Amino acid sequence: MSVLSGKKVLLGVTAGIAAYKSTYLVRLFIKEGAEVKVVMTPSAKEFVTPLTLSTLSKNEVFSSFTNEDDDNAQWNNHVELGLWADYFVIAPATANTLSKMAQGQSDNLLVATYLSAKCPVYIAPAMDLDMYKHPSTLETLSKLESFGNTIIPAEHGELASGLIGKGRMAEPESIVVFLEKDISDQLPLKGKKVLITAGPTYEAIDPVRFIGNHSSGKMGYAIAETAANLGAEVVLVSGPTSLSMEEPSVHVIRVASAKEMYNAVHEHYSNCDVAILSAAVADYRPKTVASEKIKKKEGELTIELEKTEDILASLGKTKQQQFLVGFALETQNELENAKTKLEKKNLDLIVLNSLNDKGAGFGTDTNKVTFITRDNKVTPFQVKDKKEVAYDILQHIIDHLDA
Ligand code: CTP
Repeated sequence: MSVLSGKKVLLGVTAGIAAYKSTYLVRLFIKEGAEVKVVMTPSAKEFVTPLTLSTLSKNEVFSSFTNEDDDNAQWNNHVELGLWADYFVIAPATANTLSKMAQGQSDNLLVATYLSAKCPVYIAPAMDLDMYKHPSTLETLSKLESFGNTIIPAEHGELASGLIGKGRMAEPESIVVFLEKDISDQLPLKGKKVLITAGPTYEAIDPVRFIGNHSSGKMGYAIAETAANLGAEVVLVSGPTSLSMEEPSVHVIRVASAKEMYNAVHEHYSNCDVAILSAAVADYRPKTVASEKIKKKEGELTIELEKTEDILASLGKTKQQQFLVGFALETQNELENAKTKLEKKNLDLIVLNSLNDKGAGFGTDTNKVTFITRDNKVTPFQVKDKKEVAYDILQHIIDHLDA
């Protein structure tokens, strides 16, 4: 999934011939899952019509402080527009607009919105080659960069004047790729390897029967997806679930038993930065697995069980750089039991869910958790969607990773 998915992109269009390319840009942003609004300078309307841009963006296009076509002239609020955006992309940006931005002028809606925007601003300049290399332009661009804006460099090629040189606006595809790379490079888990377990385990009794539990895997899958969206390289070791992973960058390893989960986890543990074990691993398995289906007989059947490997505890024993997170599902003495587990398994964080809480536990889309840290800090949370719980867990890890 693109880092632009679900993001609000405000596209600023100024009066250059490259404005016609802004129509493609709108379409590409929408294809990546972004919501797009367009703000234009008044003269940009001579190059591309607001109707085209509003049809493509499926949103009203803004070009003046008041909506002149409206009898009850409405104020177009530049502050609101600036605050709405997650990213403000000005493409094409003419020399005139760049200069106004560098000077802090606000005589049209676009530059006023620029002054109000708190989000990252990307600028794709477009002008003739001599204008582009003029010391005034170069100084303007470096000034704008020093303000924290990002310049998407113009490209070399044939210009509207017929001259050949540097000044063409970057192609819409290149602008989108530039943005996606820049955004993902700044994600908080960029460069981090996160190992996650999810779901139940099935411990075979015979070829057709097993001992399992009701875990749906939803919590672990939500953590894996969210970690990937925050830039991490994610390995998800999943027990048998009906879920499918929506995020293609997550490396999913499907296992059935605790033993298989143990092996898969250990294969990826040594070089990971974070391990989050949310799987509901069976604590016991049949001591022997019948090679044929066990036939019904008179009387009772006893299955002898042996302990499975405690995967989490084994990771705690060899923990080095890893930030280790475990879950505790408790029905009584919740806090006390969870704290004991945190210490015994050498964890950095334990996420407690109590089956006594409404909206917590297996199968549901929500969870109610309490965080307990090594230094005994206890943080209870409200009932939340599992995706939000996933975000809270990862945010806690981000805050403590390099601390
Ligand atoms: N866990 C594990 N391997 C096991 C059992 C549990 O990795 N064989 C992990 C779970 O993924 C979870 C944590 O240990 O993160 C706590 O699991 P839980 O079943 O609540 O605790 P147990 O240590 O098994 O103790 P008990 O069942 O007695 O509460």
